[in-house]
Amino acid sequence: MPLASAATATPHLAAAETPAWDEALLRRYDTSGPRYTSYPTALSFDAGIGADDVTDALARSNASQRPLSLYVHVPFCRKICFYCACNKIATKNTQLAEPYLSRLDREMVLTSRHLDTRRPVQQLHWGGGTPTFLTLAQMSDLIDRLDARFGLSNAPDRDYAIEIDPREADVFTLRHLQSLGFNRLSLGVQDLNPSVQAAINRVQPKVMTETLMDEAHRLGFRSLNLDLIYGLPFQTEQSFADTLAQVIDLNPARLSVFNYAHMPSRFAPQRRISETDLPSADEKLAILRTTIEMLTQAGYVHIGMDHFARPDDSLAQAQRQGTLQRNFQGYSSHAQCDLIGLGVSAISRIDDLYAQNPTQLAAYEAALDEGRLATVKGIRLNKDDLIRRDVIERLMCDMEIDLASVGQRWHIDAPVYFASALEHLQPAERDGLLQREGNRLRATPTGRLLIRHLAMAFDARLQSQSSQRYSKIV
Ligand SMILES: C[S@@+](CC[C@H](N)C(=O)[O-])C[C@H]1O[C@@H](n2cnc3c(N)ncnc32)[C@H](O)[C@@H]1O
Ligand code: SF4
Repeated sequence: MPLASAATATPHLAAAETPAWDEALLRRYDTSGPRYTSYPTALSFDAGIGADDVTDALARSNASQRPLSLYVHVPFCRKICFYCACNKIATKNTQLAEPYLSRLDREMVLTSRHLDTRRPVQQLHWGGGTPTFLTLAQMSDLIDRLDARFGLSNAPDRDYAIEIDPREADVFTLRHLQSLGFNRLSLGVQDLNPSVQAAINRVQPKVMTETLMDEAHRLGFRSLNLDLIYGLPFQTEQSFADTLAQVIDLNPARLSVFNYAHMPSRFAPQRRISETDLPSADEKLAILRTTIEMLTQAGYVHIGMDHFARPDDSLAQAQRQGTLQRNFQGYSSHAQCDLIGLGVSAISRIDDLYAQNPTQLAAYEAALDEGRLATVKGIRLNKDDLIRRDVIERLMCDMEIDLASVGQRWHIDAPVYFASALEHLQPAERDGLLQREGNRLRATPTGRLLIRHLAMAFDARLQSQSSQRYSKIV
């Protein structure tokens, strides 16, 4: 079922406007919670969903004629960063990618058999791991196969992005990526301080990032993004302010400043990080405050959670127009597409289905060697899930919800339907995180920082999940 997007224009934090800062309040609400890159979250996926559900969803998707988005997961990294929570495999041998690429091709063939591929592929995203681990020839081969199976677009408004580790790319890589049709880059930086870099096993001198950014600007890539992380070992308010000052100088159109998710029981490399080296909760809050102040003063708009963008960037424009979307990469300015996820651990969002591939490479490859799609779990959304997904997405993107338009879109009496969520939100309203004017709920500047907490009120599946599986909100 297509999701109607909110037509209302959305107020946003103007450049240079910084939120009120109530430290005690922030600390009180700093619990664990989902990032809502999907609703229901991946913790609700179950093993009852398999390849047949995917082929059925592809048929419904064909009937809808929604545009397509492709995600390709390239899991290889030459060296593992200790903080990393991504699905990755450490290897230095690029030949190891060959058998993986042939499995990806099998997956594309099996999927495209059931897919009406006359629809435009508006979005393409290569994530990882490190997609630039692939040789230039392997990248060309992968693009050729994607084009052959799905028909890639060369429309100027296509959104073809790739995640780049600056240690694994040079100016020739960028020129090659441009010739393959990519028009958006995201570069991993994390922190520029040498002590922090040593502690996370990621030594990356600033000049590496700078050289790539210069070339990317020269080549005309748009919406260039840099990833930073706050909460890493040995970071202080001052050290991170130094990193930010240098990053602002580099002038990226977008910045992701992720809150370090430290969950060593889930991510083995994080056990190499000593908890005593991590900044205290107070220091982390101070870092966040400085981050928001410095970036808004430098003219960035705080889109929400960890994302910042220049006011003329498409992400900020989409937020002003009320058309911003939430997806597995965070936020997106593109209209709702059906997402085909390819590769180990990849998640698809097709019609009313989420479907995920195995996180283990052997299981992924074995399924394709048997000639079947590798889906191992997922969820088919019921009507209640679809309504809640709509509300949570609008709140995460617009920082407000208009219950009247929710009611119109879903033919429900929204204030009655969400009576228990609204009751749940009363303490947040009393504490000044939320303002309610009639049918309109709006996060205050402090509430924006705790938007995950506000969204949790609309999550009907949270009670059955352990909060241990989620990261801290602030
Ligand atoms: C797949 S990596 C980006 C591409 C490339 N592998 C690189 O590292 O440059 C995705 C991003 O996730 C973020 N990330 C990874 N582990 C994280 C964690 N534990 N907490 C917060 N952010 C994390 C990092 O900012 C990283 O750049
Ligand atoms: S952050 Fe990037 S390069 Fe580092 S281990 Fe994770 S995926 Fe690999």
